[in-house]
Amino acid sequence: MEFELKPEEKLAQQTAKEFAEKILKPISKKIDEEDKIPEEILQQLKDLGFFGVYMPEEYGGANLSFLAYILIVKEISKASAATGVMLAVHNSLTCASINRFGTSAQKNKYLKKLIKGEKIGCFMLTEPEAGSDAANISTKVEKDGDNYIINGEKIFVTNGGYKGYGILFATHDRVLRHKGISAFIVDLEKPGVEIIRNENKMGLHGAYTTAIALNNLKLSKEELLGEEKNGWSIAMFLLDASRVTIAAQALGIAEAAFEEALHYASERKQFGKKISEFEAIRFKLADMALKIEASKLLTYHAAWLKDTGKIPIKEASMAKIFASEAANFVAKEAIQIFGGYGYIKDYGIERFFRDAKVTEIYEGTNEIQRVVIAKELLKNLS
Ligand code: CAA
Repeated sequence: MEFELKPEEKLAQQTAKEFAEKILKPISKKIDEEDKIPEEILQQLKDLGFFGVYMPEEYGGANLSFLAYILIVKEISKASAATGVMLAVHNSLTCASINRFGTSAQKNKYLKKLIKGEKIGCFMLTEPEAGSDAANISTKVEKDGDNYIINGEKIFVTNGGYKGYGILFATHDRVLRHKGISAFIVDLEKPGVEIIRNENKMGLHGAYTTAIALNNLKLSKEELLGEEKNGWSIAMFLLDASRVTIAAQALGIAEAAFEEALHYASERKQFGKKISEFEAIRFKLADMALKIEASKLLTYHAAWLKDTGKIPIKEASMAKIFASEAANFVAKEAIQIFGGYGYIKDYGIERFFRDAKVTEIYEGTNEIQRVVIAKELLKNLS
């Protein structure tokens, strides 16, 4: 593995960092309080090319590496984790699905609009009875001549509230589990798609988490993504890479919380000296920095593997577990260093704690990531 970033990766990171620090960070409290990413922020992210970071130029993408994309998600998440996950689900679950498995007609029709940011993408896999056990989905697809009729309910759909384009998974026969699932591209403005609610969450305010009902949704064969009953491999292929973005999001949250705590510890005085002079605080800062550095290496390594053409199944799960647990540790310690002020909303530290928690849950809980890692470790031995 090379540790030196390429010039275009450095530039992408620098661009994202400047935008995050100058534009996004000053309004991150407003995003959290109003539970909405302002329209002008979305527009600026589109203008920066962040809606198609590693997509081909042919469809309007910036054609950067996956690592460049990971660096962008990290920098954006440092200022606003909600904005980070909006970009993550749009790029590496939606655009990437169509780019990898779509026909050229589908790429011209859907991918171009997604990359321009005219439509925001979402990934419609999870259901009330199928969270970790994703192969247990009950959203039913029935053939009707050349068309498909879909009925069911999807929940926890990040970006669902934008009513853009979704990658929808439905089963032809639930008994077949993962072998009976097809994937479709859905325009969420179509009749038959009903937004039930946007969830009121503990953290990540600003990111839509939506429940969507599908009532006799009629799709044509032009909206089928890949082959019939091949939806599971599409979902797994996408999640294997996208889990690295959750690691990047967690890393961004951890870095932001750490920097605030480091700064505060070097200014706050108690017992006549700066609290950074006490060993209790110094050890906390050292442990926080250690976990951040290790998260960074695991995350960038998994992204680098993807850029070399490998599918980083084990490495993505490892990065996601480690970085999300580190973010939770760092955010909690940051509150402790701030003491009572850390518990007060005006100081903005408790937001890191609320935002960090979900990184241990979505895109596969950390328990499921351990299942995936163990399976990879053992697969060639039996
Ligand atoms: N990559 C590629 N293939 C995989 C895979 C992976 N990570 N994990 C499993 N598979 C393959 C297996 O090799 C197997 O293939 P074969 O049929 O060829 O043998 C097939 O999938 C079925 O595997 P299992 O028998 O192990 O299936 P299972 O049903 O027992 O468990 C699971 C599979 C790994 C637990 C899977 O259900 C899973 O990943 N669950 C988590 C779901 C998830 O991540 N949801 C995220 C929703 S999206 C989201 O959160 C986005 C957001 O909002 C931010």
